Amino acid sequence: MVCRIMEPRTRDTPIPSFSVKTMVPTLNGTGFMFEVLDEYALDWIRFAASSADPVLDLGCAYGAATLPALEAGARVVASDMEPKHLEILADQVPERLRDHLECVAGTLPGIDFAPARFAAILCSRVLHFLNGADIDASVARMAHWLKPGGRLYLVTDTPYGIWRRAIPAFENAKRRGERWPGIIVGLHDYLPTAGVKRHIDKPPFMNLLDAELLARTCIEAGLRVERAGFIDRTDFRGLGRMDGRENAGVMAVKP
Ligand SMILES: C[S@@+](CC[C@H](N)C(=O)[O-])C[C@H]1O[C@@H](n2cnc3c(N)ncnc32)[C@H](O)[C@@H]1O
Repeated sequence: MVCRIMEPRTRDTPIPSFSVKTMVPTLNGTGFMFEVLDEYALDWIRFAASSADPVLDLGCAYGAATLPALEAGARVVASDMEPKHLEILADQVPERLRDHLECVAGTLPGIDFAPARFAAILCSRVLHFLNGADIDASVARMAHWLKPGGRLYLVTDTPYGIWRRAIPAFENAKRRGERWPGIIVGLHDYLPTAGVKRHIDKPPFMNLLDAELLARTCIEAGLRVERAGFIDRTDFRGLGRMDGRENAGVMAVKP
């Protein structure tokens, strides 16, 4: 599914563009929102639509997952550290769905919500901006915000996509049993093109993950992992050689 984000109707903040049209640059140098939704986001949307309780889209950017979830009938709390993303998202929402959307500006790991508020949480391609302790603290908080039976969907970058130059160090650190093998600094040394570098210029480091590391974090937060694996992002293969492991995802349930 492709969720196309239109220019905002009432705000004058222009949405930047990129050579791969389905990758929409963020306004705060944290990379791209993907308009082509992966299987974890699609499952979050399906589950959200079937639930009477609200769901959370954490690090929603301009709402590539929030907008179809609202259209499918879900009640969504959309949250992001960049308030302008939320303004643009709110501008896209048709009047008939406005009371199904709440926008909350905030930053992980500090942002907080009421315990057991959400039926499901999607946190897609955000956790890799946090250090290990902050990832663990954030996922523990997400577990706390879920209702019993609620679902957590996490997606992150791996070393096997645009960060391929990190593969040898990642695999060596994993072999040595390091807890967070994917920490890299000096991000522009890793990125494939000037165009990508232009839109990823704020994070001081990346903490690249794989499905095994995501599953470990969920288990340590008291969740039951139902599904974990790599995600094949065929939509951005134009950026250089990739191998079908560009992102990693996990779906875990609160017992
Ligand atoms: C790479 S984009 C991903 C957007 C979308 N979720 C997706 O998967 O395509 C990261 C988004 O997360 C937000 N973000 C980054 N770090 C964050 C943090 N620590 N807390 C909350 N939001 C954050 C950014 O502002 C940006 O909108």
